[in-house]
Amino acid sequence: MTSGDIAVLSGDGIGPEVMREAVKILRVIEKKFSVALRLTEAPVGWAGIDAAGRALPEATLALCKKSHAILFGSVGLPDRDPTIPKEERPERAALLRLRKEFGLFANLRPVKLPRELARACPLRPERQGGGVDILVVRELTGGLYFGQPKKTEEITCDGRRVRRAIDTMVYSTPEIERIAHVAFGAARLRRKKVTSIDKANVLENGVLWREVVTALGKQYADVALEHLFVDNAAMQLILKPAQFDVMLCENMFGDILSDEAAALAGSLGLLPSASLGATSRERTFGLYEPAGGTAPDIAGKNLANPIAQILSAALMLRYSFGLDAAAAAIEEAVARTIAAGFRTGDIFSSKEANTRQVGSREIGDAIAAAL
Ligand code: IPM
Ligand code: MG
Repeated sequence: MTSGDIAVLSGDGIGPEVMREAVKILRVIEKKFSVALRLTEAPVGWAGIDAAGRALPEATLALCKKSHAILFGSVGLPDRDPTIPKEERPERAALLRLRKEFGLFANLRPVKLPRELARACPLRPERQGGGVDILVVRELTGGLYFGQPKKTEEITCDGRRVRRAIDTMVYSTPEIERIAHVAFGAARLRRKKVTSIDKANVLENGVLWREVVTALGKQYADVALEHLFVDNAAMQLILKPAQFDVMLCENMFGDILSDEAAALAGSLGLLPSASLGATSRERTFGLYEPAGGTAPDIAGKNLANPIAQILSAALMLRYSFGLDAAAAAIEEAVARTIAAGFRTGDIFSSKEANTRQVGSREIGDAIAAAL
């Protein structure tokens, strides 16, 4: 019997209500697949600030350190307490800190538009081509997010004091190589194509990125490699999304393009993600979170789509616990539930026959029943 320790950090906004549905599903998985998942909840984000004065309380970090994986909700409420400095706000002090602390350099964001949701896709059917099925592989611990110096300073410019902000984009060869390995490895299990994204016509980082990925690509002769400038990639995603299999991106480009790709799949509420570190002794530590954020406008109303959180739990079972069959069972249950017509508000259209709008709880129950 497999067992695992999981730190459950729901966070803010819709985090707790979508997490409740994911936990519901994991409880069904325990029975069905005879696994023991020890789930321990701890506060993070504004919930951490309220409970212990910091976005990532010491006790929460300690729990993560003794767990095999982190199931994460979402953090950050832009309208809360502007007096708290930006370095202590949840986005940086909790989420980015966890990514860095655990060396979670590989962020996988699978974007798939289910056939039944073709209507939720903003593109006309002829543009959807053979369908949207993209894996965004985003570098997560380097680039503009973490490069130093990173600061806002005061300088004298034309005789007056002005403020100047500096962020630094920096990548070393090994950082590019390890994320490229992840992308090529993933492509081998899919349609064997990697599109590497850069800005090699302007940025030093882009030139190095392209050289390193090209050289590494020779080790993967069975995978087709192509390069796109990031601006062109943003356009191609809208014009012809079916051309993409795996998109390999540095941190900032991946942040932007993965939201764009998610919109093609109907809703941000459907997009799970896995943030993985290095594998040691056959175990991969990971943080699993929906890509959608806290959605404060609909929080606490039983309106949020829990599917991204539930699919994130499936990714956790697959990557951190090697429970492929259990992960696939969840993914199939989600697909069956959508096919059966259950829709949260974000993916509901009154023009679609045989569907009905339900709340977070009800769609969670339907997925649990489909399992
Ligand atoms: C994401 C989010 C985060 C990021 C924010 C909340 C810091 O947008 O995971 O894509 O920019 O990485
Ligand atoms: Mg983002």
